[in-house]
Amino acid sequence: MTTTVAKTGPVPDYDYKIVRQFTVMSVVWGVFGMAMGVLIAAQLAWPQLNDFFQPFSHFGRLRPLHTNAVIFAFGGSVLFATSYYVVQRTCQTRLWGGWLIPFTFWGWQLVIILAAITLPMGLTSSKEYAELEWPIDILIALIWVAYAMVFFGTIAKRRTSHIYVANWFFGAYIITIACLHIVNNLAVPASAWKSYSYFAGTADAMIQWWYGHNAVGFFLTAAFLGIMYYFVPKQAGRPVYSYQLSIVHFWALISIYVWAGGHHLHYSALPDWTQSLAMIMSVILLAPSWGGMINGIMTLSGAWHKLRTDPTLRFLVVSLSFYGMSTFEGPMMSIKTVNALSHNTDWTVGHVHSGALGWVAMISIGALYHLVPILWHRKQMYSVKLINAHFWLATVGTVLYIAAMWVNGITQGLMWRAFNADGTLTYSFVESVVASYPGYYVRFIGGALFVLGMLLMAYNVFRTITDKENAKQQDNTVPLAQTA
Ligand code: HEM
Ligand code: HEM
Repeated sequence: MTTTVAKTGPVPDYDYKIVRQFTVMSVVWGVFGMAMGVLIAAQLAWPQLNDFFQPFSHFGRLRPLHTNAVIFAFGGSVLFATSYYVVQRTCQTRLWGGWLIPFTFWGWQLVIILAAITLPMGLTSSKEYAELEWPIDILIALIWVAYAMVFFGTIAKRRTSHIYVANWFFGAYIITIACLHIVNNLAVPASAWKSYSYFAGTADAMIQWWYGHNAVGFFLTAAFLGIMYYFVPKQAGRPVYSYQLSIVHFWALISIYVWAGGHHLHYSALPDWTQSLAMIMSVILLAPSWGGMINGIMTLSGAWHKLRTDPTLRFLVVSLSFYGMSTFEGPMMSIKTVNALSHNTDWTVGHVHSGALGWVAMISIGALYHLVPILWHRKQMYSVKLINAHFWLATVGTVLYIAAMWVNGITQGLMWRAFNADGTLTYSFVESVVASYPGYYVRFIGGALFVLGMLLMAYNVFRTITDKENAKQQDNTVPLAQTA
């Protein structure tokens, strides 16, 4: 492990206010976004639930509200909180940026509220994960530039000699998301709330999935790996397993991810060689993904016993297992012959949530449980038992969700491609929908368990913040050698 040398001088007074604000909103948006997930899961299981408050509560309008809420409101708030915390702690300096810092918080909350209003109204650009209309896109671009200035400004004034690897991942995510967002949302406005994409036809599809896949690669993966590289060693009380591996992991991951977006467009009008290239790059992506997972899990060498008593560490480690699982499954699904079965089925939805619930949500929850006592100067969380209960609800909920979607996905894929001897289809589409109902009920139960866990978390966080008796002296003086 590289030793980090702090320049001499007083220990900085870190800016925890912004981290606290984003931490609280992470929990709020987590509960909201996942409750939306349960609602749309219920609509798929019991379609009559679509009938209320039409057209605002229709599945087609609430689905993007769910994806935007969990990815950008929940995931985004977690990433703002953790990146602002980690960059200060590992650079041993207070955040740079003055008014830009609160601007990122209030601006981001405004974006979320605008999304929660416009999406149910049906105002959408129709690009998946980039549905928001052009005025909101401009606001996002401004906030993101401010975010980049704060983050890199803080790195520039660091009091340490090197830049800890977590910041490399956060930095790559900030730069790449700016490029993806601006290019994919280039549009010609037709009115205040309607625009047409600057791109057309196959080029539009390619740009969209270059965006979509790298939103997964950089927003839902690279940035959360930044969380892993700081919080797993911290919570385990062990140095990261291999610093060398983390550097190889970083460069391999970011240079391969950007080539893989074409796997979303197999058997489409996209040139065949582009699809094959995307498939090959996706299969190669297994190696850096697993390199990172192994680096995280092996960090526990010598500290495995802590898993028995520390549910926060369990969240972090189990998230890595799900990361390993979804990054094995993804490359398999990108193989054209496998994709011929999985595409458009619930298998994709299962893959998404093994990444989204198992990896993204679990590592976020682990990081938040680590952060809350530190940020509010408490000795520990209000209840470790509740964290433990949350852990089991989240794990069982995720397993029920993804197992149900695998069964559904493979059933659908096989039913759709079954032919009779005379060449006619064996099953009608409706028959495949009927066969999917049991899976939809199980998914609803899994999702409800996951949300129940989030409610326990909200209660536990609230009690920790308000429990003054649990307070401890402010401690900003942890030497950096323990963080890297
Ligand atoms: C309680 C937890 C959750 C439940 C019950 C849930 C439920 C759902 C449902 C029912 C859909 C629509 C599937 C379809 O169209 O057939 C969906 C889509 C989606 N959800 Fe969730 N979700 C949850 C949590 C999350 C989280 C935490 C994330 C991300 C961090 C996430 C990301 C997504 C994405 C990206 C899609 C679109 C998938 C695709 O287009 O293939 N979800 N979710
Ligand atoms: C090595 C890593 C990965 C590869 C190669 C990969 C590959 C794939 C493939 C082939 C699909 C299906 C495309 C289709 O048939 O339409 C897919 C869908 C998806 N994956 Fe992954 N995946 C990886 C990791 C992840 C992770 C870790 C997450 C979440 C955190 C994730 C989130 C998604 C989402 C949201 C979609 C659905 C996109 C949509 O159609 O709306 N993937 N992925």
